[in-house]
Amino acid sequence: MHLTHSIAQLRAAIREASAGKTSLGLVPTMGALHDGHASLVNQARSENDLVVVSIFVNPLQFENLGDCDDFRNYPRQLSEDVALLEEAGADIVFAPTEQEMYPHGTPLLWVRSGTMGERLEGASRPGHFDGVATVVAKLFHLTRPDGALAFRAYFGQKDAQQVAVIKRMVADLNFPVEIRPVPIIRASDGLAESSRNQRLAPEERTHALVLSQVLHRLRDEVASGEVIDLEGAREELRSSTGVTLDHLEIVDPASLEPVSESTLREPLRSPALVVAAIHVGPVRLIDNMELRPQS
Ligand code: PAF
Repeated sequence: MHLTHSIAQLRAAIREASAGKTSLGLVPTMGALHDGHASLVNQARSENDLVVVSIFVNPLQFENLGDCDDFRNYPRQLSEDVALLEEAGADIVFAPTEQEMYPHGTPLLWVRSGTMGERLEGASRPGHFDGVATVVAKLFHLTRPDGALAFRAYFGQKDAQQVAVIKRMVADLNFPVEIRPVPIIRASDGLAESSRNQRLAPEERTHALVLSQVLHRLRDEVASGEVIDLEGAREELRSSTGVTLDHLEIVDPASLEPVSESTLREPLRSPALVVAAIHVGPVRLIDNMELRPQS
């Protein structure tokens, strides 16, 4: 495996490794890798003959452009990450410094995620999806293979809004890359894998389990043709010990527009997505689940 830190090294490594290959899979990450990331790399590995993983904690997608505790406390563990990626079979790792990614400081020109980035997660984290779209656009330019190689990029479905925003960016701005969402990995107790889980105390982790329990219940209600009790589900999260509800919404999976109240008064007839965010102690957790009506 090739560990690169500069754009020049990355481009040279991709050029050298591309000979005779047919496709490149990119897995963008912020490091602190866990089983969820390993499944992104595994899927990229199984669908491509060249796999590049980036590790960069992107200040643009944090509050105050990274001048905040969330950014400062974000776990950084490059040597553990590199060991995991070696094991998972990545070919090239790109772990740039901030200076390498943003040599002129905060960029003047950004990719704007528009109203799609202002809802749900974006309502609590203004500017977050603009920061994500901007760094992902840069990573697509930096890792895009030359010649006829197919180019695919892998994102965890746990960040459903991120997947939707990036798909829309690719469609609106004609990026020559196929976006491949990868299903959520859950621990045996149901908690969706996230780097933030490391920051939960054992008791907080137990409190957090209500989130996936509520989502599973909504999924089962839809699958068995029942009308969803969305307000009841919200109330259960609000009244759950140690939990503060940020949002619980049923949305269209592509546009992220909320499903109308009149639609929710009857059993769902087309697939939707339930998306949620809660705070448990100091940690904000997100999760989502596909709702598939009875066929
Ligand atoms: O999902 C993440 O880890 C980040 O938002 C991403 C896509 C690597 C962009 O910084």
